[in-house]
Amino acid sequence: MTLASSASVDSITVSSTSPISESAVAEAVDAALAAAAAASSLTDLKAARSAHAGEASALAKLNALMREVPADQKASAGKLVGQARGRVNQAFAQRESELAEAETAARLAAEAVDVTAASSTWRPGARHPLSLLQEEVSDIFVGMGWEIAEGPELEHEWFNFDALNFDEDHPARAMQDTFFIDPPERHLVLRTHTSPVQVRSLLDRPLPVYVLCPGRVYRTDEFDATHLPVFSQFEGLAIDKGLTMAHLRGTLEHLARIMFGDEARIRLRPNYFPFTEPSAEMDVWQPGAKGGPRWVEWGGCGMVNANVLRAAGIDPDEYQGFAFGTGIERTLQFRNGLNDMRDMAEGDIRFSEQFGQVL
Ligand code: PHE
Repeated sequence: MTLASSASVDSITVSSTSPISESAVAEAVDAALAAAAAASSLTDLKAARSAHAGEASALAKLNALMREVPADQKASAGKLVGQARGRVNQAFAQRESELAEAETAARLAAEAVDVTAASSTWRPGARHPLSLLQEEVSDIFVGMGWEIAEGPELEHEWFNFDALNFDEDHPARAMQDTFFIDPPERHLVLRTHTSPVQVRSLLDRPLPVYVLCPGRVYRTDEFDATHLPVFSQFEGLAIDKGLTMAHLRGTLEHLARIMFGDEARIRLRPNYFPFTEPSAEMDVWQPGAKGGPRWVEWGGCGMVNANVLRAAGIDPDEYQGFAFGTGIERTLQFRNGLNDMRDMAEGDIRFSEQFGQVL
């Protein structure tokens, strides 16, 4: 090891005539190293550094004595003090990085986040307004003594079309844009309406039948402000002796008043559905509509077609019935004045929360 690179101050000899004594340098170095080692925080270290390596330190004072060192001894005295200062500075720098590392480690430990811990900012969910509306409608009918019936969403074409009096190549079959399921010879479709539950209810239940069939349906519609390819409907079906359009109308009016207020009314306009005859489009007079009272197209209805009754093994001379159906999204949209149906499909809690019933 060469002298110049040595960190030791012991190997340098300075003549006794020099004002800078080796022992004074060694003492200053030892005190500085001890202070650096003893510092237990960066703040302590800063104070120790200023005391032992700063302008008022013993080493700085020794350095200042250089001026008084005889010329022939300047080189060795300079080396002695320079190496001493270098050693001290290095010791402070090393202690600084040790303390900084320890302080960072301690801070990280203190601020550690347990990503597996249960969050304390958990937000409660909210019932979806479509579920709430479906339940509200179901309650209205249960209150009148009706039953709730459900059926499969993956449906046989026979229930979705044939039994509902849609002919094999009747243009009405194209009225509803259907998702057909492969392979075609199995004749499965995603149900396009809840009407197949009419037929299932008639096959399953003893007469008379009063059922409300809510559920999800599918059509190859665009996903836009007024259409969803997956949406929900509720359909009502009543089969009994002596039912007429007056019963249909009364039932719809009762429903409309509960949902839209006492002033609400129903208007029927002639229409065509293969499974009802006569058939009508039903409009509702919505007194509390945003922007003023108005008629809104609400759904379809009619007296159950005799062919549908026959397909379910019921004698149309003995039993008659009525049916109606409408979309739940559509109902929610105009009842609550919502602009974009897509909000209903997105599952954003900020949308659901506005309808109350936070869990
Ligand atoms: N199922 C029809 C539709 O989805 C609605 C409807 C139901 C019409 C019952 C009449 C009777 O368009």
